[in-house]
Amino acid sequence: MRQIKLTEVHPGMVLARNLFNRKGHILLATGAMLTENYLHKLRRLKVKTLFIQDPRYDDINIPEYLSLETQQRALSILNTTMEKIHNRETFAINAISNVASDIVEELILQPSVSIQLTGIATHDDYTLDHSLNCAIYTALLARSCDFTIPQIKEIACGALLHDVGKMKVDKGIINKPGRLTEKEFGIIKQHPQSGFNLLVKKRWELSSLVAHMAWQHHEKIDGTGYPRGLQGEEILNYSRLLTITDVYEAITGCRPYRKSMKLQEAYHIIHSGLGTTFDKNYGEIFLSKMALYSPGMEVTLNTGEKAIVISLLESAPQKPIIRLISYPDGTPYMPPTDINLAKNPQLSIVSTSPI
Ligand SMILES: [Fe+2]
Repeated sequence: MRQIKLTEVHPGMVLARNLFNRKGHILLATGAMLTENYLHKLRRLKVKTLFIQDPRYDDINIPEYLSLETQQRALSILNTTMEKIHNRETFAINAISNVASDIVEELILQPSVSIQLTGIATHDDYTLDHSLNCAIYTALLARSCDFTIPQIKEIACGALLHDVGKMKVDKGIINKPGRLTEKEFGIIKQHPQSGFNLLVKKRWELSSLVAHMAWQHHEKIDGTGYPRGLQGEEILNYSRLLTITDVYEAITGCRPYRKSMKLQEAYHIIHSGLGTTFDKNYGEIFLSKMALYSPGMEVTLNTGEKAIVISLLESAPQKPIIRLISYPDGTPYMPPTDINLAKNPQLSIVSTSPI
């Protein structure tokens, strides 16, 4: 399996990972042969990258944090809940807390301690993708910060629901491809308060900490965040985890207003905000666990050679094992050779594609 840009996919290639829509239904299943008709539809859906089968990279294992069944169920429940809120209908919260609990039960079985991109992207609803990915990243971070399992379940639930207030905002503003006007940004900035107002009404069924995560996820340690300008430990520890993963997901996921940024840029943005935007301790733990590369990703080395990331070692998630595929002049490496970058300090990755 390898991940390539949609523009590089051609008819006859075979899909190696399911593509979902917002309802959790599969748009295209693993094993589907890509045709010009499918590619045309994927371009219209603004799909940026696909995982495709490639016998040269059969041994590449791109981690799937959640089973297909849990991903589908989570997306479907989130979609139903968000639609009900948008339509001002009453909504039940127990399905969300149950699926948050199931997500955590699956995640704690994962042997890997590194935080890697989930690959979950439905391509037609950024808020759903963002919420589910945030739940996964925040639960993984909470596990690394030694929170208890019941706490991690509350945290995952809060991460799933943190942006529910956006359902009160005009979708035209949420999905606007261009720069927001000051007035539009002012409207967006109301979503933490709206989310809290919605969730606090469910306090008999849901921990009030979950409602506070929605309220506080845009606060910053130095008090420059919104809506209340809380500082330091005035911000709940659960929310201080979420502010990190919320920004990480927003940077690395696909959004209508820009291309997703590289993992290295996400690393630098979080690093430069330690102690000001982000909790220093939690942020440092996140960065130490955050993989800078994703298996299947094509990279260029300082020597000019091209390679594919094969796997990440838990001991050094930022120095992957790679497979050299071509020389600087483009001549294929024969046979392709695997190298552990942790054991070859003279080699470094200078650029990546396609993320
Ligand atoms: Fe938000």
